Amino acid sequence: MRLDKMLAHLNYGSRSEVKKLIRKGFVMVNGEIILDDDYNTKEDDEVTIFGDVVSYEEKLYFMLNKPKNVVSATFDYYDKTVIDFFQGYEKRNLFPVGRLDIDTTGLLLITNDGELAHMLLSPKRHVYKTYKATLDKKFDPKDIIALENGVTLDDGYVTLPARIESFEENIVYISIREGKYHQVKRMFQAFDYEVVELNRESFGPLKLDSNLKLGEYRPLTKEELDLLMKSYENN
Ligand code: URA
Repeated sequence: MRLDKMLAHLNYGSRSEVKKLIRKGFVMVNGEIILDDDYNTKEDDEVTIFGDVVSYEEKLYFMLNKPKNVVSATFDYYDKTVIDFFQGYEKRNLFPVGRLDIDTTGLLLITNDGELAHMLLSPKRHVYKTYKATLDKKFDPKDIIALENGVTLDDGYVTLPARIESFEENIVYISIREGKYHQVKRMFQAFDYEVVELNRESFGPLKLDSNLKLGEYRPLTKEELDLLMKSYENN
C-alpha cells in the first residue's frame, strides 16, 4: 500500500498533509527515512512516524456463498473451514462474522475487521438475517403469530420476535435478529417441523449475490460496505 494512503487512513492527516510529513523526513520504513510519498510498503515493512511504530492492517470484506460440509471457523483439524476458500489471504487474519451450521448454506460475511464484527454481533445491535428454510412438511400459517411473537426453545430460552417474510408449501422465509445455536432449526422444531435445508439469503442490508456459486466469494462493494456500517450505527 502507498505510504501516504496508509498514513492518511490512520488519521495522521489528509493525503496532502501526510505527503508533507513524508517529504520533511518524519517517516521511516525499516529504519530508513523515506522522502518519496508514493513509496509502496510491503506487508512485513516496519513503518514509523515521529519514531512511533505504525501498525496498519488493510481491512478486507467479502461475501461468501457457504456450501455444506464446511465449518464456520478459521481452523479445524477435521473439516474444511470457510477460510480455506481464501487462498492467497493466509496472512490477512480473515474470520467469519458469526456462524452458520455445517449443513447451512448461503451468505457469510468474511473480514479481518474485528470492530465491525463485534458491532454486528453485539446482542444489543443484532441485525436481521433472513433464511430460506425448507421444512419436512407444509407450513401451516396458524404458526406465524407464535413464531413472530417469540418461541420458547427446548432449553427454555424465549427468542426475540421473528418475521415471517413469505411462505409457500414447505418453504418459509424467516428473519431473525439473534444467533443462538441452531436457532432457526430449533424455532421450527418447537412447532414440530424439521428444517431439511437452510440457506441464508441476507445479512442486515446485504443480499446474497445470485452470481456466486456455492464456495465462491467476492469483495463487498463500497455501497454494500456503507450500508453495513450504517446498519449498526442506526440500531
Ligand atoms: N439457524 C440455524 O438453525 N442454523 C444456522 O446455521 C443459522 C441459523
